[in-house]
Amino acid sequence: MMGLRWEGNRLRILDQAHLPHDEVWRDCTTADDAAAAIREMAIRGAPAIGITAAFGLVLAARRGDDLQAAGQLLRSARPTAVNLAFAVDRMLAVGSDPDRLEREAIALRSEDRISCADIGRAGLELVPDGARILTHCNTGALATGGDGTALAVIRAAQRTGRLDHAYCTETRPWLQGARLTAWELASDGIDHTLLVDSAAAGLMRSGGVDLVIVGADRVAANGDVANKVGTLSLALAAAACGVPFYVAVPLSTVDRATPNGEAIPVEERNPDEVRRIRGTQVAGTDTPVWNPAFDITPAANVDAFVTDAGVIRPPYRGWPFG
Ligand code: MRU
Repeated sequence: MMGLRWEGNRLRILDQAHLPHDEVWRDCTTADDAAAAIREMAIRGAPAIGITAAFGLVLAARRGDDLQAAGQLLRSARPTAVNLAFAVDRMLAVGSDPDRLEREAIALRSEDRISCADIGRAGLELVPDGARILTHCNTGALATGGDGTALAVIRAAQRTGRLDHAYCTETRPWLQGARLTAWELASDGIDHTLLVDSAAAGLMRSGGVDLVIVGADRVAANGDVANKVGTLSLALAAAACGVPFYVAVPLSTVDRATPNGEAIPVEERNPDEVRRIRGTQVAGTDTPVWNPAFDITPAANVDAFVTDAGVIRPPYRGWPFG
C-alpha cells in the first residue's frame, strides 16, 4: 500500500499534505498518533483511513491501552467515511490479543487491495473505446490499499488500451486532484489534464467527457452518495449534459444502517482551509466561511455503482443496499 508502512510497533505514514513536492514520513506509535494523522489528513481517502485505524488499534493493544477508548477516538477522527467505523468495529470484534489484531489489520489491507483490483476489472464494462474520463478528488493508491476505486477503473482502462484521456479536477480546498491524482496519473504514464473544479461543466457541455467516475465515503441504504465536496455539482452537470455518472466503491463503503443521504454526517472543517491556499491568506482573516468536506449526491443521479462485486445499476434496492 502506497503511503503506509507497518513495521510491527510503528506505523509510518507518508504525509499527503506535503505531496507531491516533499516526501515526509510521519511515525505513529499510539492510537492517538494514528487518529491525529487521520484528522489532519496526513492520510485520507475512505479505505486508507480505515486501514490506518486498524493499525492504530494494534498499536493500542501492544501498549496495553484501553481498546474501546482507542476505537472511539479513531472512529471520531473523521465522521463521514463509514470505512473508518467499519474497520474499528471489525478490529474490536477480534478481541484484544495484539498478534490477532495485527493479523486482522493486515488482512483488512490485503482485502482492500483485492477489492480495488476487482473494482478496476468490473468498471471496464462501462468504459467505451477511446474513453475520456473525468474524476474528482483522489481515489487512487494513496487513498486505498491497492490501485484505488475510481482511479482503479481509469488504470484498468489504460492497461486495456481503452483510455484516451483522464481529466482530474483540482478539488478545492485540499487540492487532492491537483496534488495527488495528477501525480498518480503522471507516475503511471496516463495522459491527463488538470482543471479547476468550476471548469468541469464546460468541458462536459462541449462534449469532451465520455463518463465521470468518482469514489465515495459512504453510500446510504437508498443509494445516496457522500463524496468529496464538488461531487454533486459534477453529477448535476453530467446529467444536464447527458454524460454518464458512476460511483466506484468497495462494498464496505455501503452502509445499510444509514437510510439515506440526509442521515450521513457531513464533516465541516476549519474555515482557514478556505481562507488560505497552501498557507497563503486569500480571503480576509475573519471572513465567514462554510467548509463542508463532502456533499450528498442523490441515488437518482448515479447511473451505476462499480463495486468489488460487479456493476450495479438502478434501482438500488436489495443487497447490498437496504
Ligand atoms: O477528504 P478526503 O480526501 O479523505 O476525501 C476523499 C474522498 O472523497 C474520496 O473520493 C473517497 O474517500 C473515496 S477514496 C477511494
